[in-house]
Amino acid sequence: TTPMWLDCDTGHDDAFAILLAAQAPGVKLLGISTVYGNAPLENTTYNTRAILTAIGREEDVRVYAGARKPLHREAAHAADIHGESGLDGTHSLPQPTVPAHQTGALDTINEVLSAEPPGTAWLVATGALTNMALLFQKHPKLVHHIAGLSIMGGAIGGGFTDAPLGTIAGEGERFGNWTPYAEFNIYCDPEAAQAIFCNTALAVKIVLIPLDVTHQFLADSTVKMGLLFGGVGSIRIERSIADATPVRRLFFEIVSFFAQTYADVFGLKIGPPVHDPLAVAAAFRADLFVYNNATDNSGDQKERFHVHVITDGEHGSDSTIRRGPSQCGRTVVTRTRPGEPGVLIPRGVDAQALW
Ligand code: BDR
Ligand code: CA
Repeated sequence: TTPMWLDCDTGHDDAFAILLAAQAPGVKLLGISTVYGNAPLENTTYNTRAILTAIGREEDVRVYAGARKPLHREAAHAADIHGESGLDGTHSLPQPTVPAHQTGALDTINEVLSAEPPGTAWLVATGALTNMALLFQKHPKLVHHIAGLSIMGGAIGGGFTDAPLGTIAGEGERFGNWTPYAEFNIYCDPEAAQAIFCNTALAVKIVLIPLDVTHQFLADSTVKMGLLFGGVGSIRIERSIADATPVRRLFFEIVSFFAQTYADVFGLKIGPPVHDPLAVAAAFRADLFVYNNATDNSGDQKERFHVHVITDGEHGSDSTIRRGPSQCGRTVVTRTRPGEPGVLIPRGVDAQALW
């Protein structure tokens, strides 16, 4: 089993990341830290505790509240996608029963991961990278102890490129979800993200799951029915929602709300993409992901990338900024030369197997 610490901003898809990390037989979930993001920190922490209560893991999975704002900026929140609470749209969320620890997140993550055998434990980040940047600043030796850091973040688009850093995509090309260029988690704290990707010892241990991959993992209507009744693809239509267990109903409501906001905001007809559990899966089921080889004939060497985060330009929640030309928070990737260190970025995922 893979020892894992999850850092999240519980939102709809983070709830699925928690479910997977807490319930997959291949994972030992060591604890969860929370970060502002989809909603303010109080909400994301509350939502995390409520999900753990819903799935019966509130007693043994400790929750630590982390950063309430980015390193150098004001926090942005994604109420248009996740609602004001960060987890709107369900009547089935139980009251959390166990309080969160309000201090000590960074030291606890370091202690708990360091207690695992070297090269075994994974960190998984499904929100802004503020906690992760502060963690490795405070505990730099942890980099050498962990097996990896799996991140949901970034939007690459336009094909993965060999072009030099800073090359601009074609005019009008949209691949971000917060601005035309930027994905939300990276946008929230671009300086924290840049600090993480610049840390060369850490970069070789990073798996990055960008929107390009998460948009292959959609909760279409078959998946939704499978969530409700069990067994994706084997639906008995005479069943009614009343037959579903409370946990199934909860996750069905969560994904249904998420589908509606994705349809409203992005006009997405099939979906929504359920981003965050992919970062959990990449840490313990690498076999479910498709990687290109480093070169056409290099055998099983996976391609790696330098990741550069643009930190210049206007930044904020204001709609004129969001629709404007600012590239702040954009992730620019360039393939490393064969044998050179860099971040792993899969090209695809076996969505059916993962569901
Ligand atoms: C990411 O942003 C958040 O809204 C989601 O929870 C996910 O982590 C997708 O861009
Ligand atoms: Ca998230």
